[in-house]
Order: sequence, then structure tokens, then C-alpha cells
Amino acid sequence: MAKRYIGIDLGTTNSTVSVANLTVRGDIESSTLEVAQVDESGNSIVQDHTLPSVLYIDDQGYPYVGRFAKRMNGVYPSQIIKEAKRHIGEDVSWPIGEENIRPEMVASYVLKILKAQAEEYYGEEKIDSVVITIPANFNFQQQQATKAAGMLSGFDKDKIHMIPEPTAALIDFLNEEKKLDVSARRLTLEGKKKNLMVFDLGGGTCDVSILQVGEGLNGGIDIQELSISQYTELGGIDFDKKVVNELFKRLLKEYGLSFKQFTAKYEKKDVLRLFENLHDFAEKAKKSFSTKIENQLRLQQIDYYENSEKFDRLSYREMLSSQLPEELVTSLSITKKEYDQIISELLYKEQSKQGKNIEEPILNALQHSKIGAMTPQDIDGVFLVGGMTYYHTVQERIYEIFGRRMKPIKSINPMFAVSRGAAIYHHQIDNINFKSSDQIQVADTEISAETVVFTNTVPNNIYIDVIGADPVALLEKGTVLPFERIIEDRFIVTGASSTKAVNAMQLELFTAVDAKSIHTKKLKSATVAFKKPVSVNSKLVLKVECNQEREVSVKAWLEQDETEVIDVNIGAHEFTEKEIQLLKQKQEHINKIK
Ligand SMILES: Nc1ncnc2c1ncn2[C@@H]1O[C@H](COP(=O)(O)OP(=O)(O)OP(=O)(O)O)[C@@H](O)[C@H]1O
Ligand SMILES: [Mg+2]
Repeated sequence: MAKRYIGIDLGTTNSTVSVANLTVRGDIESSTLEVAQVDESGNSIVQDHTLPSVLYIDDQGYPYVGRFAKRMNGVYPSQIIKEAKRHIGEDVSWPIGEENIRPEMVASYVLKILKAQAEEYYGEEKIDSVVITIPANFNFQQQQATKAAGMLSGFDKDKIHMIPEPTAALIDFLNEEKKLDVSARRLTLEGKKKNLMVFDLGGGTCDVSILQVGEGLNGGIDIQELSISQYTELGGIDFDKKVVNELFKRLLKEYGLSFKQFTAKYEKKDVLRLFENLHDFAEKAKKSFSTKIENQLRLQQIDYYENSEKFDRLSYREMLSSQLPEELVTSLSITKKEYDQIISELLYKEQSKQGKNIEEPILNALQHSKIGAMTPQDIDGVFLVGGMTYYHTVQERIYEIFGRRMKPIKSINPMFAVSRGAAIYHHQIDNINFKSSDQIQVADTEISAETVVFTNTVPNNIYIDVIGADPVALLEKGTVLPFERIIEDRFIVTGASSTKAVNAMQLELFTAVDAKSIHTKKLKSATVAFKKPVSVNSKLVLKVECNQEREVSVKAWLEQDETEVIDVNIGAHEFTEKEIQLLKQKQEHINKIK
């Protein structure tokens, strides 16, 4: 079978799929596929490069993903699940009808559609291998759950590869640059190493990575991960929410009601609908601003940074949907200046009330780099990715954070760069080397032409709680991958006070800036299930392995018996065979127009 190269960007709000093919000139061409999906009316199929990551389950229990599902958000909000990526890796589920739907299941529906699209592109061929991207700062449980979603959608367990979204976006950028004449390139290496910051602001996550790019051997590229920001749940949906709250306040004034009076007067479904309509309005407003500005910049051939004030007066207006009670339907308008005032809290650290702003992850990435604290001056270029970077005020703010020294590099296609890069990575997997560059000898025969050398690192600290002693680090941020480590003399088998032997024990996992930090986030427990009852107080040895693609596995054995090695479940949810079969049946019905 011919090799097929597929990259999927499983986004909080939108997902995309790209394929990579080799051209006759020997270049890699990556293209984003149009995804067939049910349109807003629910009656016909449309093609769009993005697939909204929204699941709608209709009254008969049939699933829909994409535009129609997103539209149903404003109509039957209790039958849709959106932004599931923010919960992947957690033990949560949403009840719809008879079902309890977990985040992995939502993701599997999205992946299933993208997989089918890629299969159609290649002529109905079955595809079992893929690269799925994840935020750089996802912890291993979030990564593990994403992989489970990949398996639930029909990809082969051993053929699912995962790379961080910023790295994928950078791969796409470098691949395009390579095709250009040196004089036309936006990044020139000239034998030097360059520190690039990838700033990815999508629908739900703000992902900042610092990657050092250098010329590798034989014309290849050397990409070293220098830093990854802390996990920051900040994206377009937070911008939209801020605007929704402000508009709602305005509406209450217009209706002459307090919040209490308002919720007492209207049914819950109407309140939800109003909010969904306001969300729609808020999202359309920012998109309309950025598209209008972009058009004008192009027509007038001017630079935004020198003319930003010119665009303050832009305004956006729209009527609220007629599906609302008549007295709630009204016309709304907002100017760009007002919009920017509302969202400014999300752009400036000092204004930020909930610690959610784009400045903090940038500073965090600079502060905690593998080569010591860095300053904005150490960065040679900032590369923008993610739908929210279309918005000019965001671009302007980044320009400002970097002292107006260099204009951020805009991705050719901020919404597709990640999946495009993932497909290229899939193509290059055979040619990719994960050794760090200093491990490679010039005479290394393994190094073929154009090899991409990656040095990936552990994205965050994970600790195991130990009663009455300091926590033990399972993973330490910045550790160069791959690695393995054996932890001895730190664990003993525990059980309730009267028990002498146990069948299993739990290891409590948490993530934090450091072991002593009071700001910790509890993760799911790891379970060591012994093959036969084990005496309490026996000494336990743990072996941690993390491969180049950051997949973590843990094994355990009793110090006195090294022959019985146990695979430790480090917090993955285990679906029963019955659940998997049921999900597969449901997947057969996705997006079928009735
Ligand atoms: N032209 C535009 N102007 C402003 N914002 C836009 C534009 N187009 C899309 N967006 C916003 O970008 C966000 C989606 O971006 P993207 O598709 O990159 O995110 P995602 O991949 O779903 O999320 P994440 O990467 O955080 O998981 C949405 O909030 C959307 O409203
Ligand atoms: Mg994204």
C-alpha cells in the first residue's frame, strides 16, 4: 500500500485535516482538505476547510459534528457538547439522552469525520496511521486521552503519532520557506541558530513555545525545544465571553431588568438561547473587524502598525435571532474601539483579574527556558498561529511586548498551519531523528539528506504524593526526551490500617511548578494492580519511560521480586468493550441527513 500522510489539528473550536504529498521536484506539498459536513439548515452538505469541534446529539440519539452542530448550540444548547478539548484527560462526562459522553468520545467523533475525509481523498482507502497534534503544554494524561480518542475513531494504537501544535506550525512554515529563493525568505539562518517564539492563540488555548532552529547536517533542519509556557486556557472563546457579558449588561439596561428579574421572567431555554445568540454576535464582530481591516490594508497597501488608529471607528451591527421571545429581539452594535476596551484585560498582565492574558505565557516561556531565563531581546522572531492571531489588536500587542523591535511573522494560514505541519511531519517520520544535535557525529551513517533533528522536552512537572515524605518527581519539566528512570527506595505498598495484603494501590499524581509549591493541580491517580495479593509495606520500584513523542509509560515491581513486572495505569480511562462497540455503531450515523 502506498504511504499516506495525514495530519490532524484537533482544536478546541475547529479541527482540520491536511495531507502531505511529494511533488516531482522533490518538495513536500501539504494541503488542507475541505471537510464535508451538514450545513446550518440541517438539510444539505457543505464543504469547509474547518470542522467546528462541536457535537450535537439529536432526539433520536444520532450524532452530528460541525457547522450544523455549532448552529444547534443556539437552539438546543443542552444537546450539544463544545470545547470538549478543555476537559480531555479529566474524569468528566456530559449526559445527553440516555448517554454519558466523555471528552474522548467527543474527540473520536470529530476524528472519525476527518479520517473519513482523508480516506475519501485517497479513494476510499483505509487509513490507520496519523499525526494528531496537541498543545505543547498538555500533560501526559491529556495526551493519553487524545490518543485514546484516536483509537476510538479507528486509527491503529501503534500508528498514532503526536506532536505539539507550535512545533507542527513551525514545520509548515519552514517547509514553505525552503521552497523560496533565499532572498524571499522571511527567516534566514545563514549558518546561525535562531530563537523563534511560536505564539499560538486558538479558540481555547494560548500555547507559547520557544524553538531554536538551526541548519542541520546535509541541508537538514535542527529544531530544539528551548521552552514551553505553562498550560494556559485562553483563546477566542474567552474573548467572546468577555464581550457577551458586556453586551448582556447593556441589554439588561435596555430591557429595564436586573439579572434576577430577567432570569425569573424568562424560561431557562430562552436565557440560554439569548446567550448563544450573543456569543454568535461577539464572534462575528471580531471576525468582521479583522477581515475588514485586512481588506483595507491590502487595497491601500499600508501597514497596520503605523495606521492602527485609522481602524478604531469600524463598527459591527446585527439583529438578534428571531427564535427568541419577541420582546428580547433587538439590534446590537459594537465598534472596534469598544471591543478592544472590553478585551484589554486579556492582553495586559497588569490589567488581568483572573490571570488569563496573553502576556503571562510569553513571559513564562522566556523565564523558564532550558538555557536559563531569556528576555524579549533574545528572540529573533515571533511566529503567529491560531485563528485569534488574525485579530490585529492581538498582533499589535505582541509587537508591543517585543518592544516594537520586530514585526511578528504571520502564518500564511493561521488556522491550517498546525495540521499542514502535522502532515509534513507524518511524511518525514522515517527521516526524522530525535537525537539532540550534539549526539550526532558528522560521519553518522544514519543521517540522510534533509533530516530534521528534534530535541523535545518534558512539558511539565508531575509528582507522586508520598504520605509523610516529600513528593517524588515522576517527570521533570525540561528533561530532554527520550528518557527512562528507575525510582527505588521511595515507595512502599500501602493499605488500610488493619489489612496485611492488598491487590492494588493508588499513586496520587499532581502537577505543580515545583514539589513544594502550594499551587498544585491534582491529576487522576495511577493504579498499580498486582497480579496476586501483596504484603503491605513491601518495597516498590517504579520505572518511568517517556519516548520522543512524549508518551509516558510506568512499570512497577516489588523490590524482592523483579520478575513480576506490572504495567501501571497512569490515569487513562478504560472503556469497556461494550462501550466501544456502542460508540462504533453511533459513529456509523454521524452527519447523516434524514
Ligand atoms: N478572522 C478572524 N478574526 C478573528 N478571530 C478569528 C478569525 N477567524 C477565526 N477566529 C477565531 O479563532 C478561534 C479559532 O481558532 P483556531 O481554529 O486556531 O482554534 P482551535 O484550533 O480550535 O483552538 P485551540 O488551538 O486553542 O485548541 C475562534 O475563537 C475564532 O473565533
Ligand atoms: Mg489550534
